[in-house]
Amino acid sequence: MAKRIVLAGGSGFLGQALAQFLKGNGYGVTVLSRGPERTENGIEFKRWNGVTLGDWQETIEGSYAVVNLTGKSVNCIYTRANREEIVSSRLDSVKVLREAIENCSNPPQAFVQAGSLAIFGDTREVCDENSKFGEGFSVDVCKQWEEEFFQKSLPNTRQVFLRIGFVLGRDGGALEPLIKLVKLNLGGTVGSGKQYISWLHIEDLNRMVLASVEDVTFSGVYNATGPSPVTNKEFMKSLRTALGKGWTPPAPSPFVKLGAYVFLRTEPELALTGRNCMPKRLLEQGFHFHYTDLEKTLKEIVGG
Ligand SMILES: NC(=O)c1ccc[n+]([C@@H]2O[C@H](COP(=O)([O-])OP(=O)(O)OC[C@H]3O[C@@H](n4cnc5c(N)ncnc54)[C@H](OP(=O)(O)O)[C@@H]3O)[C@@H](O)[C@H]2O)c1
Repeated sequence: MAKRIVLAGGSGFLGQALAQFLKGNGYGVTVLSRGPERTENGIEFKRWNGVTLGDWQETIEGSYAVVNLTGKSVNCIYTRANREEIVSSRLDSVKVLREAIENCSNPPQAFVQAGSLAIFGDTREVCDENSKFGEGFSVDVCKQWEEEFFQKSLPNTRQVFLRIGFVLGRDGGALEPLIKLVKLNLGGTVGSGKQYISWLHIEDLNRMVLASVEDVTFSGVYNATGPSPVTNKEFMKSLRTALGKGWTPPAPSPFVKLGAYVFLRTEPELALTGRNCMPKRLLEQGFHFHYTDLEKTLKEIVGG
């Protein structure tokens, strides 16, 4: 029988791509979701609420690994209610999955947790896993997330925390709104354009998760991003080239702030800040990236 991997919060952008990738690698996949129970494209969906134990626990028993991708999207305006849900959806899911693993007589051998490079805040300095953290709401969320995940060690389950960068893939994620802007001839440099984008291709992320699950030398915190971060100015230029668009006027910060709040209903900091991160530990462990050239990568994604 195929080994089974449980993807908590696996109904979203990263989870659906990962589910198909794992299935293609011979694994059985169960997604934990607040949506209806069903089987879709060979993936089983089991209902949970991300907060309390329930029938879904039986999917953890005897599973090969648990990967937690749960979290309210940060792509929203940071009202008090949204801030609370951004934090609670992340911490509650870590806590309850840990509890479910602790209750297993045959626990999964790996617990892989999605986190974010946003822990480094807004910086142009090169950040590896040991660099200092930044400041602000997003940084605080990331710090609490990591503290909760490592608060207690699990005796028979390896714990891997992936600080994920800006994931590039088809049909979703943070690239989708940028493609729309470029197509509308609004894809100029954002703000100063000096803020960094630490990007990676979704297929490289899927391979990182698989390595975290299968390779027993994977343990602890990793910067889960590609080895060639670029500035926003370079990124937008590459995206325009990939979409066959020429130079477009830059969008100054006040314009971006207004546009983000009023039209996109999201926080401008998501576009105006950035970080310059390196996957030091992944490279040390011999992880091989398939996508390191941004322009080629974007052309492949937008080319269909
Ligand atoms: N995409 C990226 O570039 C990126 C970068 C860095 C970090 N990450 C992190 O990676 C994880 C997955 O990202 P994604 O892009 O796949 O996100 P996504 O598409 O928004 O999916 C996240 C999933 O979490 C579940 N969820 C949302 N709010 C919840 C709540 N209040 N309580 C319980 N479950 C909730 C949803 O599943 P149901 O509605 O089915 O329950 C949703 O499908 C997130 O934690 C995100 O912060 C992503």
